[in-house]
Amino acid sequence: MAVLVTGAAGFIGAFTARALLERGERVIGIDNLDPYYDPALKRHRLEWLGELPGFRFIQADIADLEGLVAALGDELARVRVVIHLAAQAGVRYSLENPFAYARSNLLGHLAILELCRHHLPVLERLVYASSSSVYGANREIPFAEHHRVDQPVSLYAATKRADELMSETYARLYGLPQVGLRFFTVYGPMGRPDMAYFLFADAIAAGRPIRLFNHGRMRRDFTWIEDVVAGVLAAAAYQPVREDGVPHRLFNLGNHRPVALLDFVHMLEQAIGREAVKELAPMQPGDVEETFADITAAQRELGFAPTTPLEEGLPRFIVWHRRWRGY
Ligand SMILES: NC(=O)c1ccc[n+]([C@@H]2O[C@H](COP(=O)([O-])OP(=O)(O)OC[C@H]3O[C@@H](n4cnc5c(N)ncnc54)[C@H](O)[C@@H]3O)[C@@H](O)[C@H]2O)c1
Repeated sequence: MAVLVTGAAGFIGAFTARALLERGERVIGIDNLDPYYDPALKRHRLEWLGELPGFRFIQADIADLEGLVAALGDELARVRVVIHLAAQAGVRYSLENPFAYARSNLLGHLAILELCRHHLPVLERLVYASSSSVYGANREIPFAEHHRVDQPVSLYAATKRADELMSETYARLYGLPQVGLRFFTVYGPMGRPDMAYFLFADAIAAGRPIRLFNHGRMRRDFTWIEDVVAGVLAAAAYQPVREDGVPHRLFNLGNHRPVALLDFVHMLEQAIGREAVKELAPMQPGDVEETFADITAAQRELGFAPTTPLEEGLPRFIVWHRRWRGY
C-alpha cells in the first residue's frame, strides 16, 4: 500500500512525505518541478526525502491525466490515500500569470479528482490543499469554515475555492471521501522563497530595504510547518462524514494567533542580528489585512493542536536560512 503525495518537491509536500516515510509508509511523490521559484530548492527537498527508504519520485504534470496514469502504471493499484498539495501557489503572481493557476489549480485539481474516481481501486480518501485566501474580503474574525467564501480578492483564491466546489461535487456524485485543508501562512526551514517571511529574511540579511504594505498595518496567522504536517496526517486518517451523508469536510489549519507585521519584522531582526530598512507602502491588490484561523473544528475532529509560536519557529527558520543563503 502507498500514499501518493502531489507537490512532493514543494514545501508542505516534502515535509508531509518525510513524516510519512518516518512512519514507515511507502510514498510516491509527484511534482513537475515548476520553475516558479528556484528548482534547486525543490531538488534539495527531494534529496532529503531520498535519505529514507520507501520514497519514489515521478516527475509529472498533474494537469495531464493520461500522462499521470501512464507514469503511475502498477502503482495505481496500491494507492490508499492521495494527499494533493501540488498547485500554482502565490497570491501576487496570479495577477501576472493567471493561466498558470487555471492549469495547475483548476485542470490539475480536476485531473486528480478523475484519477481518484477512475484509476485508484483501493483508494480510501483524498486530502487536498485549500487556502486561508478563500476568505477574501470576509471581515468576520477569526475565520471559521462556515463564513462567506464568495468574495475572493485574487485569482489564486478563486481557484482554491473552485477546487473546494469541484471536490464537493465529486463527494456528492461519486461518494469520493475528501478532506480539504485551508492552510494559513505556513513557514519553516526549506520554505517558499516567494513568501513574505522568506523575502524579508533575504532582504534584511543583505541590507536591502523591505516594503511594508498597508503601512505595516497587517496581521498574519503564521503556522509552523511541523504543526501543519501533523494536521495533514490526521486528515489522511480521518473519515469525513457530514450530517447530510456527503463525505467531504473542510478544516482551517492555522495557528490561531495572528501576529502584527511590525512585531514579525522585529523578531526577524533579532534572529538575523541586523536592523531592517523599512519602507512603508500602500495596500497591494490581492492582499488581505488580516488572517486569523478559528481552529475549533480541526481541534475537535482532527486533534489538531499547533504548539509552535512564531517567537520559536522564526529563529529556527533563520538557522536554516543562514546555511541556505550562506551568511
Ligand atoms: N505555504 C503556505 O503558506 C500555503 C498557504 C495556503 C495554501 N497553500 C497550498 O498548499 C499547497 C502546498 O503549498 P507549498 O507552500 O508547499 O507550495 P510549493 O509551491 O512549495 O509546492 C507546490 C508544488 O507543486 C508543484 N506543482 C505546481 N504545479 C504543478 C503541476 N501542474 N504538476 C505537478 N506539480 C506541480 C510545484 O513544482 C511545487 O513543488 C498548495 O496547494 C498551496 O496552494 C500553501
